[in-house]
Amino acid sequence: MELMKTEVLKINPTHPEASIIEYAAALIQQGEVVVFPTETVYGLGADAFQPVALERIFAAKGRPFSDPLIVHIAGEDALGLLTASIPERARRLAQAFWPGPLTLILPRGSRVPRLVTAGLDTVAVRMPRHPVAQALIRATGSPIAAPSANRFMHVSPTMAQHAFADLDGRVPLILDGGPSEVGVESTVLDLCSEVPRILRPGGVSLEALRSVLPEVQPPVLRTPEQVNEAEAQVAPGQMLIHYAPVIPLLLFDGGLEAMRNAMLDELRRRRSSGERVGVLIADEDVPVFEDSEAAIRTLGSANDPRQIATALFAGLRALESAGVDVILCRSFDEHGLGLAIRDRLLKAAGGKVVPCEIP
Ligand code: TXA
Ligand code: MG
Repeated sequence: MELMKTEVLKINPTHPEASIIEYAAALIQQGEVVVFPTETVYGLGADAFQPVALERIFAAKGRPFSDPLIVHIAGEDALGLLTASIPERARRLAQAFWPGPLTLILPRGSRVPRLVTAGLDTVAVRMPRHPVAQALIRATGSPIAAPSANRFMHVSPTMAQHAFADLDGRVPLILDGGPSEVGVESTVLDLCSEVPRILRPGGVSLEALRSVLPEVQPPVLRTPEQVNEAEAQVAPGQMLIHYAPVIPLLLFDGGLEAMRNAMLDELRRRRSSGERVGVLIADEDVPVFEDSEAAIRTLGSANDPRQIATALFAGLRALESAGVDVILCRSFDEHGLGLAIRDRLLKAAGGKVVPCEIP
């Protein structure tokens, strides 16, 4: 695509300046794309009802048209425009979790452009809680379709700098509202299947969803064995290496001691053959790796999945730019947000999960 000048504007994340919101909204109304902060990750937004603008999203990201977009709304009244019908359970979930990091898959309204839904008869809708996202949607006066603001296949951006690194020259404007609060993308919940099922674990946990709808089914996460088979089943958005960092990542999976030992062994082996190694670990692991001459990136306490989620994508990007040849990463518990963390790490690892057992 033809490159342009990318403007980056700082915006107050809690009390967004009206003049900046109006400027960004005017760009979107004119059919342009704008990068904006949400509570999960940064989005690359365009007017959901302007097909030419939607095409710009795919061009800027280098994303295939087969991958459908999430439509962001500021009020439930917009659901009428976007959907063919609104199931009662959608109302209950919206009541409990909107605005927030939950995306609902609903029957598609006939006026929703095909570019949004990749030809499916369903549409993904979410009401973000970030004040900048809300203000931008309101000022635009139309729902905003937005994928994460990264180049296709790269890690989602949790800071404006990440979006700039991926999209400089490809978008006219990036609104910088500081680091994302949640750090992993929204939970995508399918309400068009017979039983509601999580398609992508994210910012709203399975446990929280079940407190409102006990029948919600967990996502089908691949086991390490399946991941290792690296059989990319190319359904929309389900590509195995969707979140792959540029540098190979080995995910160590197993009990804490076994995992640490296996990581240290691998680290020593790689160091002795002259490779530069990065390790992605929790605060509690630091003493184990401190003298190892690896590039260390800690994500916070392993007991605090919120902290880990917030720091995860920035950690991956930091090790990428540290110039290491390989990233060794520990795994985390699957409770609450841990499920989304595990899903993203499995995807980042692609075919490279190392099961660890005490010998
Ligand atoms: O937190 C988020 O959801 C962020 C922020 C910007 O809101 N957005 C985001 O969008 O992660 P994206 O495009 O990177 O991921 C959207 C996911 C994809 O996995 C896509 O396949 C899925 O939602 N999706 C969208 N429409 C769908 C549909 N009709 N049926 C099933 N999956 C759908
Ligand atoms: Mg994405």
